[in-house]
Amino acid sequence: MKHIKRRAFLGVGLGTTATVLLSQCSKRQTLSSDLGLRSVILSKEGLLSVDLEANYGRLFLGDRQANLLTFNGLIPGPRLEAKPGDRVQISLINRLNQPTNLHYHGLHITPKGNGDNIFLSIPPGERFTYEFTLPTTHPAGTFWYHPHHHGHVAEQVFGGLAGLFIVRGELDEIPEIKAAKEVFLVLKDFDTNPAVLSPMAMMLGREGPIVTVNGQVNQKLVIPQGGLLRLRLLNASSARFYRLKLEGHSFQLIATDGGAIAAPIELQEILLAPGERAEVLVRGNRQPGQYRLLNLPYNRGGMMMMGGRMGMGRMGRGMDQTTLQTQKTQSLAILNYEGTVGPLSLPLKLIPVEALSAPNVTRRIEMSMAMGPGMTMAFLFNGQTFNEKRIDITPKLGTIEEWELTNVGPGGIAHPFHLHTNSFQVVSRNGQPEPYRAWKDTVLVKGNETVRIRIPFRTFTGKTVYHCHILDHEDLGMMGTVNIQSA
Ligand code: C2O
Ligand code: CU
Ligand code: CU
Repeated sequence: MKHIKRRAFLGVGLGTTATVLLSQCSKRQTLSSDLGLRSVILSKEGLLSVDLEANYGRLFLGDRQANLLTFNGLIPGPRLEAKPGDRVQISLINRLNQPTNLHYHGLHITPKGNGDNIFLSIPPGERFTYEFTLPTTHPAGTFWYHPHHHGHVAEQVFGGLAGLFIVRGELDEIPEIKAAKEVFLVLKDFDTNPAVLSPMAMMLGREGPIVTVNGQVNQKLVIPQGGLLRLRLLNASSARFYRLKLEGHSFQLIATDGGAIAAPIELQEILLAPGERAEVLVRGNRQPGQYRLLNLPYNRGGMMMMGGRMGMGRMGRGMDQTTLQTQKTQSLAILNYEGTVGPLSLPLKLIPVEALSAPNVTRRIEMSMAMGPGMTMAFLFNGQTFNEKRIDITPKLGTIEEWELTNVGPGGIAHPFHLHTNSFQVVSRNGQPEPYRAWKDTVLVKGNETVRIRIPFRTFTGKTVYHCHILDHEDLGMMGTVNIQSA
């Protein structure tokens, strides 16, 4: 594992252009309004065109200054919005002192050439233009972009390099959803300085003590009495899980990773593993007052592994101390009532989710971990760590595959399994059929669980990957290759 050395981190980051950006963004972070830095970029006449500069930045998170990694000086990076059929041109400028690249998480686009090609490496000081077209049939949904340079992913995403990529479409046109107030919530934890990783942080993945929504500590949310709020949630953390609950309110789930579900489903809590998204409606049907959006404790396994050695000292460096103790509930955002609107109703129906036919091919993928050399860990699929030259799975275009994902431990650490290029549907969990159909690209597989997913390979050929979305696990080998062949 390579890490950003603190000296280099500060040294490179504080050049002249960076300083200008920094003073602007410190303001933005505290004033929360947009001061001319474009934090939302929309496609125009079928073209989304944007420059994204990855650079160091010193910003305020709450009342703490932190050394971060930013796109265009912003945490999170600018929100990009496009429509099905749009052409997208993203020019990435690498001002870091290490290679980087971009991945478009959840988008159904080509993995080849200058599309969603995570095998590219953009060296320090260089620029690269990504260019692709969203299929005209692309679902509307909450997607995102982040670096994907193997070995550097956890560190660069943890530092702050991530932003939303919204595709507008059918779901947004449903009248009840149009009438709702839309709010984006990028959930992300930070540390004031990049972590020096302990064995503990390597095992569970790095977490930081500053937990933010859109880079804000205790972000304010507003709902009118009688109104509807559409929360678009992204877990952009490298390793932290969010078990969300809104005091006094339930959630009406309307969309998952890959877009809309068929009809709203009422939930009291939502669990988001790293990489996952959810869209929910919240009804403003309570007494005016303040309600906290809470992150409840969640045990993701693995604590027993460290046994009595698990302490606050060397073992735990790079981990938030609250993770090492029994976790405590955190407040992420505060919902306030303001104003009144005629009561808005929930949509009865959303967008049908197709039923996938029986698979042409079935495969089994086993997730495990092992001790690497020294005090390091290795995370494995079918007993192997990532090798970019090895092709692990060769699906044929036009077929449907079913993958049985089994987490054999040991230690029972939960792994969020993620696949690029094509979304999938979860068929069953430990033999129990899923209660409803949904498009996913990331699915949590807990210790000793078996999850079956069904994937249609449509539209695109080429080489892509699947991996654990605890990004330290991915960097430590938990990634495999898929090469989609034409029929
Ligand atoms: Cu969000 Cu391959 O990752
Ligand atoms: Cu992805
Ligand atoms: Cu994992």
